[in-house]
Amino acid sequence: MPKLIVTNRDGETSEIEVEDGLTVMEAVRDNGFDELLALCGGCCSCATCHVYVDEAPAEIPAMSEDEDDLLESSDHRKETSRLSCQIALAPVLDGMKITIAPED
Ligand code: FES
Repeated sequence: MPKLIVTNRDGETSEIEVEDGLTVMEAVRDNGFDELLALCGGCCSCATCHVYVDEAPAEIPAMSEDEDDLLESSDHRKETSRLSCQIALAPVLDGMKITIAPED
């Protein structure tokens, strides 16, 4: 199972184990990080699952136009911004590090 290293909005970092095929959003939400609202449930229509990818051990799936448009609406967009519901966790991403972005 891939491991995911998550830093929350208070700057606390923890490591979680994730079943293959889950998205980063599902993994974070299912592990009790209630600050990641994920209001649309992963349909790429809310942008409340915004994270920064601090380190990825392999290439992550490319960003769609919809994701790009949604991120554009965030005041906290950075170069490393992604919507976590759009990244499925494959074994090659074991050890990926993310930080939950501030709330818009
Ligand atoms: S959960 Fe809504 S865009 Fe990701």
